Amino acid sequence: MATATVTSAPIDKEWNEPPKVTVQAVPPVQVHDTPILNVLDESVHYGDFRDDLARDGYCVVKNVLEKEKALKYAEDIKDWLESFGLGYKRDDPSTIREECLPIIHQKGLVQAYGATHESFTWGVRSEPAVIDVFAKLYDTEDLICSFDAVNVSLANRQDLPANGAWPHQDQDPERGGLRCVQGFVNLLPNGPEDGGLLVLKGGHKVSEEYHNVFRNEERGFRWTNEIYLFKETGLKWLADRGYEWVKVDAEPGDVVLWDSRTPHYNASPKQNTDRFVVYVCMLPVSTATQDDLKLKKKLFEEQHGHSHWPMALQPFIKEYLTPMRNGKPDPLNTWKPRQPPQLSERGYKLTGIPYIKAEA
Ligand SMILES: [Fe+2]
Repeated sequence: MATATVTSAPIDKEWNEPPKVTVQAVPPVQVHDTPILNVLDESVHYGDFRDDLARDGYCVVKNVLEKEKALKYAEDIKDWLESFGLGYKRDDPSTIREECLPIIHQKGLVQAYGATHESFTWGVRSEPAVIDVFAKLYDTEDLICSFDAVNVSLANRQDLPANGAWPHQDQDPERGGLRCVQGFVNLLPNGPEDGGLLVLKGGHKVSEEYHNVFRNEERGFRWTNEIYLFKETGLKWLADRGYEWVKVDAEPGDVVLWDSRTPHYNASPKQNTDRFVVYVCMLPVSTATQDDLKLKKKLFEEQHGHSHWPMALQPFIKEYLTPMRNGKPDPLNTWKPRQPPQLSERGYKLTGIPYIKAEA
Protein backbone atom coordinates (compact mmCIF):
# COMPACT_ATOMS: atom_id res chain seq x y z
CA MET A 1 0.00 0.00 0.00
CA ALA A 2 1.44 3.35 -1.04
CA THR A 3 0.97 5.96 1.60
CA ALA A 4 2.34 9.39 2.28
CA THR A 5 2.60 11.15 5.58
CA VAL A 6 1.21 14.64 5.33
CA THR A 7 1.07 17.59 7.63
CA SER A 8 -2.35 18.65 8.83
CA ALA A 9 -4.06 21.41 6.88
CA PRO A 10 -5.88 24.35 8.48
CA ILE A 11 -9.21 23.31 9.89
CA ASP A 12 -12.21 24.04 7.70
CA LYS A 13 -14.01 26.75 9.68
CA GLU A 14 -17.15 26.51 7.57
CA TRP A 15 -17.71 22.95 8.71
CA ASN A 16 -17.87 24.12 12.30
CA GLU A 17 -20.52 26.73 11.59
CA PRO A 18 -24.23 25.92 11.97
CA PRO A 19 -26.13 25.71 8.69
CA LYS A 20 -28.10 28.82 7.80
CA VAL A 21 -31.45 27.06 7.62
CA THR A 22 -34.26 26.34 10.02
CA VAL A 23 -34.88 22.71 10.85
CA GLN A 24 -37.35 20.97 13.09
CA ALA A 25 -34.73 18.80 14.75
CA VAL A 26 -32.85 20.46 17.57
CA PRO A 27 -29.21 19.49 17.32
CA PRO A 28 -27.56 17.44 18.44
CA VAL A 29 -29.86 14.76 17.05
CA GLN A 30 -29.73 12.08 19.70
CA VAL A 31 -29.73 8.52 18.46
CA HIS A 32 -29.96 5.30 20.38
CA ASP A 33 -27.09 3.22 21.66
CA THR A 34 -25.05 1.07 19.33
CA PRO A 35 -23.52 -2.30 20.22
CA ILE A 36 -19.79 -2.92 20.48
CA LEU A 37 -18.68 -5.26 17.71
CA ASN A 38 -16.92 -8.40 18.84
CA VAL A 39 -14.49 -8.52 15.91
CA LEU A 40 -10.94 -7.39 15.12
CA ASP A 41 -8.91 -8.83 17.97
CA GLU A 42 -5.38 -7.50 17.38
CA SER A 43 -3.85 -10.51 19.13
CA VAL A 44 -5.29 -12.73 16.38
CA HIS A 45 -3.43 -13.13 13.08
CA TYR A 46 -6.06 -13.17 10.36
CA GLY A 47 -3.68 -13.11 7.41
CA ASP A 48 -5.80 -10.56 5.53
CA PHE A 49 -7.07 -6.97 5.64
CA ARG A 50 -8.37 -7.42 9.16
CA ASP A 51 -4.81 -7.34 10.52
CA ASP A 52 -4.25 -3.87 9.01
CA LEU A 53 -7.65 -2.62 10.13
CA ALA A 54 -7.15 -3.78 13.72
CA ARG A 55 -3.62 -2.34 13.93
CA ASP A 56 -3.92 0.91 11.99
CA GLY A 57 -7.63 1.75 12.22
CA TYR A 58 -7.93 1.64 8.43
CA CYS A 59 -7.03 -0.62 5.53
CA VAL A 60 -7.15 -0.99 1.77
CA VAL A 61 -8.69 -4.23 0.55
CA LYS A 62 -7.07 -4.66 -2.84
CA ASN A 63 -8.79 -5.64 -6.09
CA VAL A 64 -12.21 -6.36 -4.63
CA LEU A 65 -13.74 -5.42 -7.98
CA GLU A 66 -12.02 -5.93 -11.29
CA LYS A 67 -10.48 -2.68 -12.46
CA GLU A 68 -12.61 -2.63 -15.63
CA LYS A 69 -15.79 -3.03 -13.61
CA ALA A 70 -14.85 -0.16 -11.29
CA LEU A 71 -14.02 2.07 -14.25
CA LYS A 72 -17.37 1.18 -15.83
CA TYR A 73 -19.14 2.41 -12.68
CA ALA A 74 -17.13 5.65 -12.96
CA GLU A 75 -18.39 6.02 -16.54
CA ASP A 76 -21.92 5.44 -15.24
CA ILE A 77 -21.41 8.41 -12.90
CA LYS A 78 -20.24 10.54 -15.82
CA ASP A 79 -23.33 9.42 -17.80
CA TRP A 80 -25.37 10.53 -14.80
CA LEU A 81 -23.66 13.94 -14.66
CA GLU A 82 -24.32 14.43 -18.40
CA SER A 83 -27.94 13.28 -18.08
CA PHE A 84 -28.93 16.45 -16.24
CA GLY A 85 -28.62 18.28 -19.57
CA LEU A 86 -26.80 21.23 -18.05
CA GLY A 87 -23.87 21.03 -20.44
CA TYR A 88 -21.31 18.88 -18.67
CA LYS A 89 -19.33 16.80 -21.16
CA ARG A 90 -16.75 14.40 -19.80
CA ASP A 91 -14.27 15.27 -22.56
CA ASP A 92 -14.65 19.05 -22.33
CA PRO A 93 -12.79 20.58 -19.36
CA SER A 94 -14.57 23.92 -19.91
CA THR A 95 -17.78 22.28 -18.68
CA ILE A 96 -16.36 21.45 -15.24
CA ARG A 97 -18.24 24.26 -13.54
CA GLU A 98 -21.39 24.74 -11.55
CA GLU A 99 -23.65 25.92 -14.40
CA CYS A 100 -23.01 22.66 -16.23
CA LEU A 101 -23.37 20.29 -13.28
CA PRO A 102 -25.65 19.31 -10.45
CA ILE A 103 -24.64 21.25 -7.35
CA ILE A 104 -21.74 19.47 -5.69
CA HIS A 105 -20.24 20.73 -2.46
CA GLN A 106 -16.48 21.19 -2.25
CA LYS A 107 -16.26 18.04 -0.15
CA GLY A 108 -17.61 16.14 -3.14
CA LEU A 109 -20.46 14.55 -1.21
CA VAL A 110 -23.63 14.05 -3.23
CA GLN A 111 -26.49 13.33 -0.87
CA ALA A 112 -29.27 14.89 -2.98
CA TYR A 113 -30.49 14.25 -6.56
CA GLY A 114 -31.45 10.70 -5.59
CA ALA A 115 -27.81 9.61 -5.80
CA THR A 116 -28.23 7.49 -2.69
CA HIS A 117 -30.58 5.12 -4.52
CA GLU A 118 -29.26 5.55 -8.06
CA SER A 119 -28.77 2.40 -10.09
CA PHE A 120 -24.97 2.61 -10.06
CA THR A 121 -24.89 3.24 -6.31
CA TRP A 122 -26.88 0.10 -5.58
CA GLY A 123 -24.88 -1.72 -8.22
CA VAL A 124 -21.69 -1.08 -6.28
CA ARG A 125 -23.27 -1.88 -2.90
CA SER A 126 -24.67 -5.13 -4.20
CA GLU A 127 -21.50 -6.42 -5.80
CA PRO A 128 -21.00 -9.87 -4.26
CA ALA A 129 -17.28 -9.25 -3.74
CA VAL A 130 -18.04 -6.04 -1.82
CA ILE A 131 -20.57 -7.79 0.39
CA ASP A 132 -18.06 -10.60 0.92
CA VAL A 133 -15.59 -8.14 2.49
CA PHE A 134 -18.07 -7.24 5.20
CA ALA A 135 -19.27 -10.84 5.52
CA LYS A 136 -15.70 -11.85 6.31
CA LEU A 137 -15.21 -8.95 8.71
CA TYR A 138 -18.32 -9.78 10.72
CA ASP A 139 -18.45 -13.53 10.01
CA THR A 140 -22.06 -13.37 8.89
CA GLU A 141 -24.00 -13.16 5.64
CA ASP A 142 -26.86 -11.34 7.34
CA LEU A 143 -25.89 -7.73 6.72
CA ILE A 144 -27.53 -4.37 6.24
CA CYS A 145 -26.00 -1.54 4.25
CA SER A 146 -26.06 2.22 4.60
CA PHE A 147 -28.14 4.34 2.20
CA ASP A 148 -25.36 6.89 2.03
CA ALA A 149 -23.79 9.33 -0.40
CA VAL A 150 -21.46 9.05 -3.32
CA ASN A 151 -18.42 11.28 -3.66
CA VAL A 152 -18.01 13.04 -6.99
CA SER A 153 -14.93 15.23 -6.71
CA LEU A 154 -14.13 16.54 -10.17
CA ALA A 155 -10.55 17.65 -10.71
CA ASN A 156 -9.84 21.18 -11.90
CA ARG A 157 -12.94 22.76 -10.42
CA GLN A 158 -11.96 26.42 -10.70
CA ASP A 159 -15.21 27.63 -9.15
CA LEU A 160 -14.97 25.81 -5.83
CA PRO A 161 -12.61 26.55 -2.96
CA ALA A 162 -10.24 23.76 -1.97
CA ASN A 163 -11.69 21.58 0.71
CA GLY A 164 -10.27 22.54 4.09
CA ALA A 165 -9.39 19.89 6.64
CA TRP A 166 -12.36 18.74 8.72
CA PRO A 167 -10.87 16.07 10.96
CA HIS A 168 -13.60 14.16 12.71
CA GLN A 169 -14.77 10.85 14.08
CA ASP A 170 -18.15 9.45 13.10
CA GLN A 171 -18.94 8.01 16.49
CA ASP A 172 -20.38 9.43 19.67
CA PRO A 173 -17.42 10.38 21.89
CA GLU A 174 -19.39 9.07 24.87
CA ARG A 175 -19.58 5.60 23.31
CA GLY A 176 -16.17 4.02 23.09
CA GLY A 177 -15.14 0.73 21.56
CA LEU A 178 -15.40 -0.54 18.01
CA ARG A 179 -18.97 0.04 16.93
CA CYS A 180 -18.78 0.66 13.21
CA VAL A 181 -16.47 0.13 10.25
CA GLN A 182 -17.02 2.65 7.48
CA GLY A 183 -15.89 2.25 3.93
CA PHE A 184 -16.03 3.11 0.28
CA VAL A 185 -15.49 1.42 -3.03
CA ASN A 186 -12.88 3.37 -4.96
CA LEU A 187 -13.67 3.75 -8.68
CA LEU A 188 -10.77 5.76 -10.15
CA PRO A 189 -6.99 5.78 -9.64
CA ASN A 190 -6.29 7.66 -6.44
CA GLY A 191 -2.71 8.67 -5.65
CA PRO A 192 -1.05 11.15 -3.29
CA GLU A 193 -2.19 14.23 -5.27
CA ASP A 194 -5.67 13.03 -6.18
CA GLY A 195 -7.50 14.05 -3.05
CA GLY A 196 -9.42 11.55 -1.00
CA LEU A 197 -9.23 10.05 2.42
CA LEU A 198 -6.76 11.09 5.09
CA VAL A 199 -6.64 9.14 8.32
CA LEU A 200 -4.82 9.54 11.59
CA LYS A 201 -3.07 6.18 11.57
CA GLY A 202 -3.68 4.24 14.78
CA GLY A 203 -5.87 7.02 16.18
CA HIS A 204 -8.67 4.57 17.00
CA LYS A 205 -6.59 3.12 19.83
CA VAL A 206 -6.40 6.35 21.78
CA SER A 207 -9.98 7.48 21.22
CA GLU A 208 -11.34 6.65 24.65
CA GLU A 209 -8.35 8.23 26.43
CA TYR A 210 -8.69 11.30 24.22
CA HIS A 211 -12.34 11.82 25.07
CA ASN A 212 -11.66 11.44 28.78
CA VAL A 213 -9.23 14.35 28.47
CA PHE A 214 -11.40 16.52 26.23
CA ARG A 215 -14.83 15.67 27.62
CA ASN A 216 -15.51 19.19 28.88
CA GLU A 217 -14.23 21.19 25.93
CA GLU A 218 -16.60 23.70 24.38
CA ARG A 219 -18.12 22.25 21.24
CA GLY A 220 -19.65 23.84 18.19
CA PHE A 221 -22.72 22.78 16.32
CA ARG A 222 -23.05 19.11 15.49
CA TRP A 223 -26.09 17.81 13.64
CA THR A 224 -25.98 14.60 15.67
CA ASN A 225 -24.21 13.17 18.68
CA GLU A 226 -22.64 10.58 16.37
CA ILE A 227 -19.94 12.93 15.14
CA TYR A 228 -17.01 14.57 16.85
CA LEU A 229 -15.12 17.45 15.25
CA PHE A 230 -11.52 17.95 16.35
CA LYS A 231 -10.15 21.34 17.26
CA GLU A 232 -6.54 22.52 17.09
CA THR A 233 -5.95 21.69 20.76
CA GLY A 234 -7.11 18.12 20.30
CA LEU A 235 -5.09 17.68 17.12
CA LYS A 236 -1.99 18.92 18.94
CA TRP A 237 -2.63 16.44 21.75
CA LEU A 238 -2.68 13.65 19.19
CA ALA A 239 0.38 14.95 17.32
CA ASP A 240 2.31 15.21 20.59
CA ARG A 241 1.70 11.49 21.07
CA GLY A 242 3.16 10.69 17.67
CA TYR A 243 0.01 10.10 15.66
CA GLU A 244 0.41 11.15 12.03
CA TRP A 245 -1.94 11.86 9.15
CA VAL A 246 -1.70 9.50 6.21
CA LYS A 247 -3.20 9.93 2.75
CA VAL A 248 -4.77 6.62 1.75
CA ASP A 249 -4.09 5.70 -1.87
CA ALA A 250 -6.18 3.21 -3.78
CA GLU A 251 -6.73 1.76 -7.24
CA PRO A 252 -10.04 1.29 -9.05
CA GLY A 253 -11.86 -1.60 -7.44
CA ASP A 254 -10.15 -1.36 -4.05
CA VAL A 255 -12.30 -1.10 -0.93
CA VAL A 256 -11.10 1.26 1.80
CA LEU A 257 -12.30 0.61 5.35
CA TRP A 258 -11.81 2.50 8.58
CA ASP A 259 -12.84 2.15 12.21
CA SER A 260 -15.28 4.99 12.94
CA ARG A 261 -13.09 6.07 15.86
CA THR A 262 -10.18 6.76 13.52
CA PRO A 263 -9.91 10.53 12.93
CA HIS A 264 -10.36 11.23 9.22
CA TYR A 265 -11.43 13.68 6.52
CA ASN A 266 -11.26 14.00 2.78
CA ALA A 267 -9.25 16.36 0.61
CA SER A 268 -9.94 17.79 -2.86
CA PRO A 269 -8.04 16.59 -5.93
CA LYS A 270 -4.89 18.65 -6.58
CA GLN A 271 -4.17 17.34 -10.07
CA ASN A 272 -6.10 16.11 -13.07
CA THR A 273 -7.75 12.94 -11.82
CA ASP A 274 -11.34 12.91 -10.62
CA ARG A 275 -12.22 11.11 -7.43
CA PHE A 276 -15.36 8.99 -7.53
CA VAL A 277 -16.26 6.69 -4.66
CA VAL A 278 -19.41 5.01 -3.38
CA TYR A 279 -19.60 4.98 0.39
CA VAL A 280 -20.47 1.52 1.62
CA CYS A 281 -20.91 0.72 5.28
CA MET A 282 -22.36 -2.59 6.40
CA LEU A 283 -23.12 -4.07 9.81
CA PRO A 284 -24.69 -7.33 10.94
CA VAL A 285 -28.47 -7.06 10.87
CA SER A 286 -28.37 -8.08 14.54
CA THR A 287 -27.15 -4.54 15.39
CA ALA A 288 -30.51 -3.11 14.27
CA THR A 289 -33.76 -3.12 16.20
CA GLN A 290 -37.03 -4.03 14.53
CA ASP A 291 -37.96 -0.35 14.67
CA ASP A 292 -34.68 0.50 12.90
CA LEU A 293 -35.53 -1.96 10.16
CA LYS A 294 -39.04 -0.55 9.77
CA LEU A 295 -37.58 2.94 9.44
CA LYS A 296 -35.09 1.63 6.93
CA LYS A 297 -37.94 0.10 4.90
CA LYS A 298 -39.76 3.44 4.91
CA LEU A 299 -36.63 5.28 3.80
CA PHE A 300 -35.98 2.76 1.05
CA GLU A 301 -39.53 2.99 -0.25
CA GLU A 302 -39.36 6.78 -0.20
CA GLN A 303 -35.88 6.66 -1.80
CA HIS A 304 -34.56 8.68 1.09
CA GLY A 305 -30.98 8.48 2.34
CA HIS A 306 -29.34 8.19 5.72
CA SER A 307 -25.83 8.43 7.12
CA HIS A 308 -23.24 5.68 7.19
CA TRP A 309 -24.79 3.92 10.19
CA PRO A 310 -26.48 0.97 8.45
CA MET A 311 -29.32 0.80 10.97
CA ALA A 312 -30.57 4.18 9.71
CA LEU A 313 -29.67 6.06 12.87
CA GLN A 314 -29.60 9.37 11.03
CA PRO A 315 -31.96 9.89 8.09
CA PHE A 316 -30.78 12.72 5.87
CA ILE A 317 -32.34 16.06 6.80
CA LYS A 318 -33.45 17.53 3.48
CA GLU A 319 -33.42 21.08 4.86
CA TYR A 320 -29.66 20.72 5.36
CA LEU A 321 -28.96 19.03 2.07
CA THR A 322 -31.14 20.83 -0.47
CA PRO A 323 -28.79 21.94 -3.28
CA MET A 324 -29.16 25.64 -3.94
CA ARG A 325 -28.67 27.18 -7.38
CA ASN A 326 -28.61 30.96 -7.63
CA GLY A 327 -30.08 31.18 -4.15
CA LYS A 328 -33.01 28.86 -4.83
CA PRO A 329 -33.52 25.12 -4.44
CA ASP A 330 -32.30 23.43 -7.60
CA PRO A 331 -35.44 22.25 -9.47
CA LEU A 332 -33.40 19.38 -10.91
CA ASN A 333 -33.19 17.89 -7.44
CA THR A 334 -36.24 15.65 -7.12
CA TRP A 335 -34.64 13.44 -4.43
CA LYS A 336 -35.39 10.51 -6.76
CA PRO A 337 -32.87 8.42 -8.70
CA ARG A 338 -32.76 9.12 -12.41
CA GLN A 339 -32.40 5.40 -13.04
CA PRO A 340 -33.96 3.35 -10.23
CA PRO A 341 -32.02 0.27 -9.15
CA GLN A 342 -32.89 -3.33 -9.95
CA LEU A 343 -31.81 -5.12 -6.80
CA SER A 344 -30.50 -8.66 -6.73
CA GLU A 345 -31.77 -10.95 -3.97
CA ARG A 346 -28.54 -10.38 -2.05
CA GLY A 347 -28.77 -6.64 -2.65
CA TYR A 348 -32.35 -6.56 -1.39
CA LYS A 349 -31.29 -8.23 1.86
CA LEU A 350 -29.02 -5.23 2.46
CA THR A 351 -32.10 -3.01 2.76
CA GLY A 352 -32.99 -4.95 5.92
CA ILE A 353 -36.57 -5.42 4.72
CA PRO A 354 -36.45 -9.23 4.60
CA TYR A 355 -35.48 -9.25 8.26
CA ILE A 356 -38.60 -7.46 9.48
CA LYS A 357 -40.65 -9.87 11.55
CA ALA A 358 -44.38 -10.19 11.00
CA GLU A 359 -46.44 -8.50 13.71
CA ALA A 360 -47.94 -11.03 16.15
FE1 LIG B 1 -16.52 10.78 8.22
